[in-house]
Amino acid sequence: MPGRPAPSRRTVLRSAALTSVAGLGAAACSPGEDGAAPARPTAPVDLGADGEMAKGTTRLDRDHHVVVSRADDGSLKAFSTVCTHAGCPIRKLEGTKLVCPCHGSEFDARTGEVLHAPATVPLVELPVQVKQGRIVAGTGA
Ligand code: FES
Repeated sequence: MPGRPAPSRRTVLRSAALTSVAGLGAAACSPGEDGAAPARPTAPVDLGADGEMAKGTTRLDRDHHVVVSRADDGSLKAFSTVCTHAGCPIRKLEGTKLVCPCHGSEFDARTGEVLHAPATVPLVELPVQVKQGRIVAGTGA
């Protein structure tokens, strides 16, 4: 078409690449990065027999995204293992350290505190109690 140059092949390819990268970014980094709360357990989760969890131990439930720890004084603490950086489920527990597979954030499973960026917000603490000899965590526990 005379008078108006058609977009070059390079321009078209660049636009396609930017669209593709933006789409991937949204898929890989949501929810959480935009300020929305990441998904976390909404129903009580049975984390096993109370009598089988010794003081000073930590247990990760990968299916329900919950970690529970028993302190030396016998008290229990539980946290959602949905990463507060961008919402990836954390499936790796090294001793008491949780390691996110997506961007490498690390958290203390006993306190929920961030040990290594890019996450800056601690894990979400969940209510936990012993019911009929079972450790139960999560909303409604
Ligand atoms: Fe980015 Fe966990 S989602 S470090």
